[in-house]
Amino acid sequence: MEKTFLMVKPDGVQRNLIGEIVSRFEKKGFQLVGAKLMSIPNELAEEHYGEHKERPFFGELVDFITSGPVFAMVWQGENVIATARQMMGSTNPKDAAPGTIRGDFGLTVGKNVIHGSDSPASAEREIGLFFKETEVVDYSKLV
Ligand code: CMP
Repeated sequence: MEKTFLMVKPDGVQRNLIGEIVSRFEKKGFQLVGAKLMSIPNELAEEHYGEHKERPFFGELVDFITSGPVFAMVWQGENVIATARQMMGSTNPKDAAPGTIRGDFGLTVGKNVIHGSDSPASAEREIGLFFKETEVVDYSKLV
């Protein structure tokens, strides 16, 4: 079953949006298979956002994501990577459609409430960075 990494960013946690965001993915029909409230160490933030290392906003990005607790999650379901991205809306909330998470709750590109993996390769990499194998549950043996 396809899996993706989603994370409520520090602004979303501070604004008490964890429940709202989890609820949207649950109601869509996806299954939560891993979750933790955590503070991201600097090294993990730099590795997670490694592809943006040369961007002018890299320092700001790392400072923000390490500024307060995040809610890291693994979700699974049919086509979850692309569908979760659609449900999140455009990276810049000013371009995000109403009804999407960023369209409904975000205002600026830095504080855009949620992160989600953009491809199967990123999903695998990001899940591996944030979760040990034993922290991702398996529902497939349920009787
Ligand atoms: P995210 O999906 O977490 O991946 C990279 C992040 O970089 C992105 O969401 C934005 O929050 C952030 N970002 C993109 N462009 C800018 C920018 N110009 N200034 C600050 N942050 C940015």
